[in-house]
Amino acid sequence: MANHKTVKDYIRTIADFPHEGIMFRDVTTLFADPRGLRIAVDQLLHPYTGTPIDCVVGLEARGFILGGAVAHQLSVGFVPIRKKGKLPGPVISEAYTLEYGEAVVEIHDDAIAKGARVLIVDDLLATGGTAEAGIKLVQRLGGEVVGCAFVIDLPDLGGRKRLEAMGMDVHTLCEFEGD
Ligand code: PRP
Ligand code: MG
Repeated sequence: MANHKTVKDYIRTIADFPHEGIMFRDVTTLFADPRGLRIAVDQLLHPYTGTPIDCVVGLEARGFILGGAVAHQLSVGFVPIRKKGKLPGPVISEAYTLEYGEAVVEIHDDAIAKGARVLIVDDLLATGGTAEAGIKLVQRLGGEVVGCAFVIDLPDLGGRKRLEAMGMDVHTLCEFEGD
């Protein structure tokens, strides 16, 4: 019998993690399933069939897993954006706002060729703060962000609108409302 499970069906929800009142959308169950991982990667790429892409940028940490698989599928390279202090070479940095306080993400300053067409990949779009910082890093190096692809959208947190207001093409595979 055909398997009709969707990407969303493979995502596990853990209540009260990491804080009381938070419904944590756990993609490890999606990644661990051979069909789940395959359909997630295929669907992330689907709108970009025929779009030239030179490089995939993944956002730490779960964006590394998806972004690596997407880059492999496209036969292009993968570039990580990491939390502050993790990359060994010269970097440029962007700060962004979290629920409490600020965080900083970094990219190697020679990681993106000028004019390179970049697809940004992460597991989840919430407020869009992380992705916005990633987009700015790529743009500062002269890259052109052709799309931002996420498995999960939390529409109540406004990330899609925020990125679209920056002129971004935003692609998500499923939504969880009320988060
Ligand atoms: C989560 C998620 C996204 C980001 C989305 O990462 O994986 O990267 O938050 O939130 P935003 O749209 O409000 O910026 P987190 O910062 O928890 O770190 P991790 O991926 O390293 O666990
Ligand atoms: Mg993350």
